[in-house]
Amino acid sequence: MAAVLARHLYFSYGHDQVINNLSFEIRKGEYVGLIGQNGSGKSTVLKLLLGLLKPSRGMIELLGSPMNKFKKWDKIGYVPQRSGIFDKTFPATVEEIVAMGIVGRKKLFHTLDAQDQDDITEALGEVDLLPQRKKLITELSGGQQQRVLIARALAGKPEILFLDEPVVGIDTVVQRKFYDLLQHLNKDLGLTMLLVSHDLDIVAHEADYLMLMSEGEVCKCTKDMITKDKKRFTSFGHRH
Ligand SMILES: Nc1ncnc2c1ncn2[C@@H]1O[C@H](COP(=O)(O)OP(=O)(O)OP(=O)(O)O)[C@@H](O)[C@H]1O
Ligand SMILES: [Mg+2]
Repeated sequence: MAAVLARHLYFSYGHDQVINNLSFEIRKGEYVGLIGQNGSGKSTVLKLLLGLLKPSRGMIELLGSPMNKFKKWDKIGYVPQRSGIFDKTFPATVEEIVAMGIVGRKKLFHTLDAQDQDDITEALGEVDLLPQRKKLITELSGGQQQRVLIARALAGKPEILFLDEPVVGIDTVVQRKFYDLLQHLNKDLGLTMLLVSHDLDIVAHEADYLMLMSEGEVCKCTKDMITKDKKRFTSFGHRH
């Protein structure tokens, strides 16, 4: 079964057609890298798949359900592109933010139980932030805040993870741990993953295959194609 299906999607912000007849399918358990130059529409694709933006035409299915009937949002984890989400007054602690990743599977105002607390602890452990759990999010560095968002996505025990440049601003040791964690989630637990990244070498190595975004569409590229035509692909791996 397709975990994510997109057929003939179109989307524009005002006049600019950003997504132009985009179609792809991600099967359950696949680990897919999404690459493309700045402004090519990668983040827009994720927002369409999350229902945060609505395509002007076309069809999206998640886990076999059309978007307008899809209800299992707790099965979807999302790590947004880093963008100073927490302003200086954001009044939440690290563990409260991670708990938001669990609220999706709870009835409104239902208190968190022991299992939820365990899931929060496990998710914080996976990103090495246990000592910081009681701190205010604003007391953390940018890279640490990004790891909180990763923990929030993991705490809900999702089946699909959408990751928008999740490791930008994170030091290389923690990056490596994070990619190893993604491998574990994908290979051992069967999570489906769509990872946006500018780091072509890493993503080509980690993912099963890549989708290259250009002119509002994607083309599917195997690792072989990338190794054979490194020069062409390197321009898409433009770093920040
Ligand atoms: N909220 C918005 N309003 C208007 N235009 C937007 C908005 N968000 C993005 N765009 C435009 O849509 C295009 C695609 O943006 P998007 O953020 O999807 O690109 P991206 O591939 O994620 O880029 P990057 O690699 O820099 O993150 C860009 O031209 C951008 O300027
Ligand atoms: Mg982006």
